[in-house]
Parts: sequence; C-alpha cells; structure tokens
Amino acid sequence: MIPISKPYIGEAEKAAVLEVLDSGMLAQGPRTAKFEERFAQVSGVKHAIATANGTTALYVALLAHGVGPGDEVITTPFTFIASANSILFTGAKPVFVDVDAETFNLDPALIEKAITPRTKAIMPVHLYGYVCDMDAIQAVADRHGLTIVEDACQAVGAAYGGRKAGSFGTGAFSLYATKNVMSGEGGMITTNDDTIAERCRMLRNHGMKRRYYHDMLGYNFRTTDLHAAIGLAQMDRLDDFTAKRRANAAYLNAHIESVVTPKVKDGYGHVWHQYTVRLDGGRDRDAAAKQLNDAGVGTGIFYPIPAHQQGYMRELIGDHSMPVAEQLAKEVISLPVHPHLSQDDLKTIAAEANKL
Ligand SMILES: Cc1ncc(COP(=O)(O)O)c(C=O)c1O
Repeated sequence: MIPISKPYIGEAEKAAVLEVLDSGMLAQGPRTAKFEERFAQVSGVKHAIATANGTTALYVALLAHGVGPGDEVITTPFTFIASANSILFTGAKPVFVDVDAETFNLDPALIEKAITPRTKAIMPVHLYGYVCDMDAIQAVADRHGLTIVEDACQAVGAAYGGRKAGSFGTGAFSLYATKNVMSGEGGMITTNDDTIAERCRMLRNHGMKRRYYHDMLGYNFRTTDLHAAIGLAQMDRLDDFTAKRRANAAYLNAHIESVVTPKVKDGYGHVWHQYTVRLDGGRDRDAAAKQLNDAGVGTGIFYPIPAHQQGYMRELIGDHSMPVAEQLAKEVISLPVHPHLSQDDLKTIAAEANKL
C-alpha cells in the first residue's frame, strides 16, 4: 500500500535524540530553545514558543490574547476539531463561517456578516497547507479591531504574498507525526508581539518567569528536548520536503482527470500537507476509497463531518447551515503526496484515480 503519510526519521534525527539522551537533560531545555529560534527564523517572526502539541498552541495563543467567556471567535467548520475545541476550552464560543469550495478555506466575503459586539478574534485555518486569503481577512480584522490567531497546524513553511504562515497574526502549528515538519507530538506558537510571547511562555509553564514564583494561572504544556531534537533535525529537511511535495502535487494535477483536482491561486506558496480531490457528481466516496485501497493506494478523508455538525457542538451552539463545508465533507478524498513517493508510486496513484 502506498501510505497516505510517511513520517521520516533519518540518521540526523536518531543522532540528535541520542545526543539528548546522553546529555541527561531530557525536559524542555537548550534543544527546545534552539528549535524555537530556528522556527521563528523560518517563519519570519520574532518569537516562537514550543508547546506539547498543536491543540495547546492554539489554546495558549487564544488565552494570551485574552479570549475567554462571553467572547466569540470566528472560524471555519471545515477543519480538524482541535481548531474549534481550543476556542471552547477558553470559554468562548466558536462562530462558524462557511468556506470557499476552491480553496477549502474560510470565505472572507462571509466573515463580516458573522461579526457581533462579542467577536474578539478570527481564527483562519490554513487547511491542507494552503494559506487563507490573509489580505482580505486582515482587512476585516482591522476594520473591526479583531485579533487574528492563525491555525497553521498543517502549514509549516506555507506562504502568501511572500509572507509565511504564522506571521500574519499569532500562529499555532502542529508537529504531530504526520505533519510536514514533525517531532512525534509537538506544537509551536509564532508571534512578533513581545507581550504575547511572554504570556505564552508563562501559560506554557505554570505562570512562571522565575522558578517557583507563579505570576498567573498556567499549565504544563511544555515539550521535551527529545521532541525538539527531532523537530530541529526536520527543519533541515523542510525546503527539500516542500519542493518534493510541490512536484508531486504538480504531477498529480497534470495527470488526474477523473475528479476535481486542487487549484492554487497565484501568490500562494502551498506546502501540500494533503493533496485533496473532490468526487463531484454524487459519486460514492466509500466505494472510491475502497477501490483505491484495493489497488494499493492509501487514502484519507479530512474531514467527513464539519465541526458545526459534530453532536456535542450542535448541543452547544445549535443548528447552523454551512452548505459549502457540508458538500465538501461529502466529496473530499486525499491521495498520497508525501515526499517519499517514487515516480512509479505517482504513476500508480494517477492511474488508479483516473479509474474512479
Ligand atoms: C487544522 C488543525 N488544527 C489543529 C490541530 C491540532 O494539532 P495537534 O494534533 O498537534 O494537537 C491539527 C492537527 O491535526 C490540525 O490539523
């Protein structure tokens, strides 16, 4: 089976982990600081703060901006559930706005209608590694004095208009095993704001600046130097992995004709965390996935149920209609695009997709 994702651990990752083990300093320490420095530099921001995972990165970023009970945060329903959950954890309410069918991302034209006096922030999600239309979103945020917390969990290295994901507002990244840069589990917050960075560091570590002096209520959302060592080694691979993902997506786009393939607008640096096509015309997706899997092509459905239609979310926020997200949730199917595909793999994926 050609897997839908393939985490890569090379000699550099292994050596880096062994070095940490030999050092005896396993918890968050100097490797984490180096990883943060590198991540900030690559993202084009002043600060990066490592956390235990992408979910805690989002939660801490929202808390650092003062999001809490009584607030509303606008986001997309077509995302991994952690985007919406991180809003709920703060006591705020997620307000869902429908997406654009071509980009799979928040439709900026619909955001303004969803703004109320309680709206505090917008959380654009750069789904599949495709940055949202940040000029349009920034313009709405500026008009209404709203904070932007980017869910860049799938978008390490992605860009828009020459700027990197995570540099438009406060960014949150995931370093989960299947992500473009991974550390097994891990998260990262990016910001240019010194005060927000300091709050994030304190929230991550029980509200401490000075050991055992707790200036605020905080958490243990730290990472470890073992994870940071893996992440740091992966950063050296980012450009190469991204170039391979782009070449693989270009091949698939040029050779697949049977389904709706993903288009990228000018000015966007897509990093292809996922290569996602749409089975239009009411075709049976379960049957299509089975057909591909039987032919040795791995698939993924990201995501079959939009956030606003999850049972507990309905109980919390009531029924809402998001026609585009609901349609996409029925139609999308992701094909392998990871950097370790061979030319034969790519041929097989395209040929089997064309039989659908
Ligand atoms: C869009 C999105 N947001 C948030 C997360 C949460 O990240 P993590 O799994 O590292 O907590 C993920 C991870 O899959 C994601 O894809």
